[in-house]
Amino acid sequence: MLLLEGAADPLPLPYRTDRLTEGGRTFYAGAMTQRSSQAEPETLPAKKAHRPGTVRTLAVDIGGTGLKAMVLDHQGSPLTDRARVLTPRPATPKAVLRALLALIAGLGEFERVSVGFPGVVIDGVIRTAPNLHPSWRGHNLARELAQKTRRPTRVLNDAGVQGFGVVEGRGLEMLLTLGTGMGCALFIDGKYVPNLELAHHPFRHGKTYEEYVGGAALAKVGKKKWNRRVERVVAQVEPVWNPRQIYLGGGNAKHLKMKLPPHVKITQNLAGLVGGIALWEPPEPPDKTEVRVAESTRPGRGRGRRGARVKP
Ligand code: BGC
Repeated sequence: MLLLEGAADPLPLPYRTDRLTEGGRTFYAGAMTQRSSQAEPETLPAKKAHRPGTVRTLAVDIGGTGLKAMVLDHQGSPLTDRARVLTPRPATPKAVLRALLALIAGLGEFERVSVGFPGVVIDGVIRTAPNLHPSWRGHNLARELAQKTRRPTRVLNDAGVQGFGVVEGRGLEMLLTLGTGMGCALFIDGKYVPNLELAHHPFRHGKTYEEYVGGAALAKVGKKKWNRRVERVVAQVEPVWNPRQIYLGGGNAKHLKMKLPPHVKITQNLAGLVGGIALWEPPEPPDKTEVRVAESTRPGRGRGRRGARVKP
């Protein structure tokens, strides 16, 4: 899990992992958000050793720019480093699958697979992939990966997976991811409302949200203007959805330099991987050795306060 400095003790989660003190500062392993109004460099998590007999989950984050993967233990803690490779272009299913299989070959053993995909996913089948190749439409990614890895596989929208890595499970919580595309995920008492595609809704000056704050916009207008744009996006969603908590994540969240109200937090991108454990909820209790074998693409139930995240 991520190691983040925290002033207050996090909630007593059953799956909370380590509390570490270094140089007089306390860090919690498992915390996925930070209160700072300015993103800090991502701290890579401490790896755990695999406990024999427990289930390992291969967590995959398919992005428009990079493919990322990591193996998690039964409690959602990393067992490996995060592996990353650039998303091949053109990003056809065949090219992405080939790159992904090469990437995960070095990660060792796992018993099941969770995937975050940058588009609409229903029952493991890709409906849209705005930042990948159009031939993804209709592709049964869950089935194909399950066949290729010979492991049960579940696939969910990438912002949904990331949200599972950060939400507290209380009230309405909203996550916006700022990467190549703009992801959006809504959680009600920890229960995910799937496939809310705010990204492609018109926003301002004839641009959609994604055209306004996506990766291409950042490259075009530069960080300063882009920060102002993100502020406008937050100001727009705020009175419409009235979330108790808004999280800003994704690969470009590190460029955020703005004063944020207390209920808006920047999350670390690694949540897009560790959130993958929630697709197999309820989580394996610490000593349970069962490995599920049936292939399924059903996302996990709302986690409430259980699972991979820890309140900062
Ligand atoms: C897609 C979303 C996705 C987001 C971030 C958007 O273009 O429509 O489904 O979550 O990009 O990858």
